[in-house]
Amino acid sequence: MIDAGERHHAVTIEVNGISRSASIEARKLLVHLLRDDFGLTGTHIGCDTSQCGACTVDIDGQAVKSCTVLAVMADGSSITTIEGLAPGGGALHPVQAAFHEHHALQCGFCTPGMIMAVRQLLKQNPDPTESEIRHHLTGNICRCTGYTNIVRAVQSLASEAHRHD
Ligand code: FES
Ligand code: FES
Repeated sequence: MIDAGERHHAVTIEVNGISRSASIEARKLLVHLLRDDFGLTGTHIGCDTSQCGACTVDIDGQAVKSCTVLAVMADGSSITTIEGLAPGGGALHPVQAAFHEHHALQCGFCTPGMIMAVRQLLKQNPDPTESEIRHHLTGNICRCTGYTNIVRAVQSLASEAHRHD
């Protein structure tokens, strides 16, 4: 049912380097704005309890579950989604390449959120231990891989960082 009394709010957000605007209801979640209004369906919805992490995006440099944020709260922010990571020309972002190389995905449903979370971890801590990796990813649920290859992929990036010591 259309609520004629529902006020709409104008929001403008930089998404993957491009300024995007929309007129939205105050109750709309950021994940729905990204997927339904902006067509960025790489950000997934895997639960309705804020637990799975499939919806993780980068908001002003922080990995955030976009189902926990009202879209109006993101007005004026700068957001990177999974679609914004690869540099183009068929090349992958280093975290995407490591997941590919180490078979860190099966169905791929959790993968966009995992990659955004791993990217955040490596920005904060370029050389995490296995336990730091597992701890950091507790907010991202994978039902397929058993996490072992995800941890291996992240460890490969950490050893890559050592190669440049
Ligand atoms: Fe956001 Fe599951 S859809 S945490
Ligand atoms: Fe299927 Fe993680 S690869 S949920």
